Amino acid sequence: MANGRRKIAVIGAGNVGATCAFVLAQMKIADVVLLDIFEGFAKGKALDMSQNATVLNYNGTVTGTANYEDIAGSDVVVVTSGFPRQPGMTREDLIGKNAEIVAQVGQGIKEHAPDSVVIVVTNPLDLMTYHMQQTTGFPHQRVIGQAGVLDSARMAHFIALELNCAEEDVSPMVLGGHGDTMVPLPRYTTVGGIPITQLISKERIEEISARTASGGGEIVKLLERGSAFYAPGSAAAIMAESVLNDRRRVLPASCLLTGQYGLSDVYIGVPCVLGANGVEQIFELELTEEELTSLQTSGEFYKKQLRDVLGY
Ligand code: LAC
Repeated sequence: MANGRRKIAVIGAGNVGATCAFVLAQMKIADVVLLDIFEGFAKGKALDMSQNATVLNYNGTVTGTANYEDIAGSDVVVVTSGFPRQPGMTREDLIGKNAEIVAQVGQGIKEHAPDSVVIVVTNPLDLMTYHMQQTTGFPHQRVIGQAGVLDSARMAHFIALELNCAEEDVSPMVLGGHGDTMVPLPRYTTVGGIPITQLISKERIEEISARTASGGGEIVKLLERGSAFYAPGSAAAIMAESVLNDRRRVLPASCLLTGQYGLSDVYIGVPCVLGANGVEQIFELELTEEELTSLQTSGEFYKKQLRDVLGY
């Protein structure tokens, strides 16, 4: 880039996209380009954030645009475009509308940021990530879905509330699809290194896992219009930072499986190493039969949706 700084594009200037851009600006790691089909929406939000630069001391610019040429040279592209859930809807109810949007956005990325790592946030997450990989034709390691960071953060929050302990000492583990088939893994969830199975009763763990799995829905219900955005937008920014700075953080993310956990040709949440090339490695946990069945059920659900609804 002309100014020597790196660049992250955020597609979609709605609540999730704007939150992601705002968090990225505060990380001071790159110039941020916020793109939306409604030009004024992107420009207005970018200007609002830019006017905050002196207050929060950014080290980079935030620009709004409707033109895909402006994402050229982006190291990472975060895709948030699409419709959010409304009360009473499942994430899968969004497939029709959002698949078309993801295909359009994918074309823009393929043409103008062909070397980028793409982080998808659009719902239904695991299906839209697969759709994005197919549309761009990028190596699957460079197309990743954000859900596990959010779902795990939700679980961590509920555990911290339960134990009245610091959030930062909770290491949660939530795998599977970003939907009703989500798989919280209490056995792999620790607090200060102690498995929560030693600290919290089985019944309460089940309640916490259930609240985690319906964490997005709980917020949709409260808001009455739209869905969560602070935590989803921040989670995408955390992933973008790990890729941009080649941090190789171990985070749960939606990755294309190629035989791991007995699943293939489907995107689903698994623990992975996120670095400059995107998904650098996928870790395969030792699971009990019940845990593995839950994960495989989740994977098979999405495989069926890919086939029956998206025609793959
Ligand atoms: C949620 C939406 C963003 O879980 O999927 O809040």
